[in-house]
Amino acid sequence: MRLLTILLLCGAALALENAVGRKPALGYNTWNAFGISIDEDIVKATAQRMIDLGLRDAGYVYLNVDDAWSEPVRVDGKLIGNRATFPSGIKALADYVHSKGLKFGIYSDAGSHTCAGFPGSRGYEAVDAQTWADWGVDYLKYDNCFAPASDWIVDRYVAMRDALNETDRPVLYSLCEWGVADPWLWAPEVGNSWRTTEDIEPTWSSILKILDYSTGLARFAGPGHFGDLDMLEVGNGELTLGEQRAHFALWALFKSPLLIGADLRTIHPDSLAILKAREVIAINQDELGVAGDLIWQQGASRVYAAPLAGGGRAVVLLNLHTPGGQYVVSNISVSWEELGLPAGTPAAVRDLYATADLGTFTDSFTAEVTAHDVRVVRIVPLGGLKHDSWRPWFSQTIRGPTSPMSDSGGTSGTASDRKMFPGQHSMFART
Ligand SMILES: *[C@@H]1O[C@H](CO)[C@@H](O)[C@H](O)[C@H]1NC(C)=O
Ligand SMILES: *[C@@H]1O[C@H](CO)[C@@H](O)[C@H](O)[C@H]1NC(C)=O
Repeated sequence: MRLLTILLLCGAALALENAVGRKPALGYNTWNAFGISIDEDIVKATAQRMIDLGLRDAGYVYLNVDDAWSEPVRVDGKLIGNRATFPSGIKALADYVHSKGLKFGIYSDAGSHTCAGFPGSRGYEAVDAQTWADWGVDYLKYDNCFAPASDWIVDRYVAMRDALNETDRPVLYSLCEWGVADPWLWAPEVGNSWRTTEDIEPTWSSILKILDYSTGLARFAGPGHFGDLDMLEVGNGELTLGEQRAHFALWALFKSPLLIGADLRTIHPDSLAILKAREVIAINQDELGVAGDLIWQQGASRVYAAPLAGGGRAVVLLNLHTPGGQYVVSNISVSWEELGLPAGTPAAVRDLYATADLGTFTDSFTAEVTAHDVRVVRIVPLGGLKHDSWRPWFSQTIRGPTSPMSDSGGTSGTASDRKMFPGQHSMFART
């Protein structure tokens, strides 16, 4: 507990300093739409579509190639682009993406192989980091397949952090270790984002599961080190528009990276409109960089909120009732007290998907919310706040970490603590 307190106090000082990722990343990743069936034409077409659809101008600047871009074996000890699917090579593709005013991201794995069975980077951190730097890579998603339990997870992720640093090229470092081994306790000083859970699927149950597993983690995120709820499924599967709205707004509120995962050649205009909801994106990119969290729940009604720069609040009202029944709309309220605003404070309320002012309210706000849908509002005290210290997790108990190395679920005070606390510089010092 004592160490953790110190960690929380020093959080900002201990965070990774690599000059990028101060705000959650906005961009595109190939995996959710294409899986391993990618090639350079798809990536180029996606770059052009990001521009034509106005996504680049909306802020989505990273174009990230996921698993299955490389040759199945190294050539002279190095990774090279797959000769059949990326015949021009990855450097040429990165140059093309850059020429479109976008940034280029790549994927690898902290084990012997990537999840799709291509060469992983464990043991090759320096050579691979230099290869990517030479290619002009701006973003690395680093997966967690094919690593033995004896090779401690933090060591594997720290090794790549240090290798990237050695290249002198600022690369946004995205840890994809699936939320195992409590990454929120150590990842803030290792990467710019850390996945909170296993992979997302384009279903409502998957979205709710990720949301629930990510609840309570807001306190560990901050500028330069954000929880990653995984890539967006907006426009994929059978998600209704309400579910897509909820998914996108909650990911934005949690300050997750927002990486589009739909096929941009065929995306439905209604899904595209959600991805381009300017004022919802603005919550995600807010200067304060404080992640949102669950602040109230009763029955099927939930309220999620985050503070914004300047004393405002972003609020997502979520209705979990089953759609299609007789009662598909519920009133959901949020009080100023729950938001840390003094009672009686007049505040302007704005609907962020509708981009419409809803009026001035003084103690609470109530809206009708459709089942499997959200209302997203910004609540701004008129005249600002003199003193604003509200954080949604202040009411939560802080506990010590559990150890990833034991099945018993260690508590603070065990020998494994030494390895779990980022404050222990012996573990994290660069070698
Ligand atoms: C490398 O790490 C040092 C120390 O944290 C930092 O000041 C520097 O900006 C880093 N460079 C890159 C390219 O990440
Ligand atoms: C929500 O509250 C308003 C104001 O009290 C009321 O008019 C409306 O019928 C309520 N809606 C539902 C679905 O209960």
